[in-house]
Amino acid sequence: MKFFIDTANLEQIQEAEALGILDGVTTNPSLMAKEGITGHDNIINHYKTICKNVSGDVSAEVIATDYEGMIEEGKALARLDHLIVVKIPMTRDGIKAIKYFSTEGIKTNCTLVFSVGQALLAAKAGATYVSPFIGRLDDITTDGLALIAEIRQVYDNYGYETQILAASIRHTMHIIDCAKLGADVITAPLNAIDGLFNHPLTDIGLAKFLADYKKGNS
Ligand code: E4P
Repeated sequence: MKFFIDTANLEQIQEAEALGILDGVTTNPSLMAKEGITGHDNIINHYKTICKNVSGDVSAEVIATDYEGMIEEGKALARLDHLIVVKIPMTRDGIKAIKYFSTEGIKTNCTLVFSVGQALLAAKAGATYVSPFIGRLDDITTDGLALIAEIRQVYDNYGYETQILAASIRHTMHIIDCAKLGADVITAPLNAIDGLFNHPLTDIGLAKFLADYKKGNS
């Protein structure tokens, strides 16, 4: 399973990259705004900076909502760096744009996916990644993880190559559950990834090993 970090925060991206387990980055306009990165030129420059700091795919979201606008913007984003994946919303025009980029060999991430039907359309259009938002479904008392399982089943039925990128991850157990369900990728905030490290028995065991070593060497 690939690990993407879901942030536009450069320090956190560098920290995750330094761990050696990072496969990519996802951003969206809200994550950019959270870091105070606003305005077209600043956002473009930030994408370039992120790409210089990682070696995996970097999702950059189009702002245009019409087909022609998405094509123009997506092409410009793809020219920024070979790591860029054009992130396109799940709409009619979005699906047409994903189909276009797929035939052009440009990677895409179909975002704002909340149903199996939408995921099926993304796969038919040739999206590289499909992003079901599990946390936002949980927020409205709908089982986000069940959607991951359903998309996995449908994609496996037909051998679709579109990778399931579980998004809107809120905590560490979401990551573990997505791994059990066969998501191809998770994108998560650093604190959720960090939670995977923790186990009290590891801390207790390490403290004991060190104490015993010191006894033998004092
Ligand atoms: C990533 O691609 C998504 O935009 C992101 O995971 C959404 O997360 P949120 O629901 O926490 O805003």
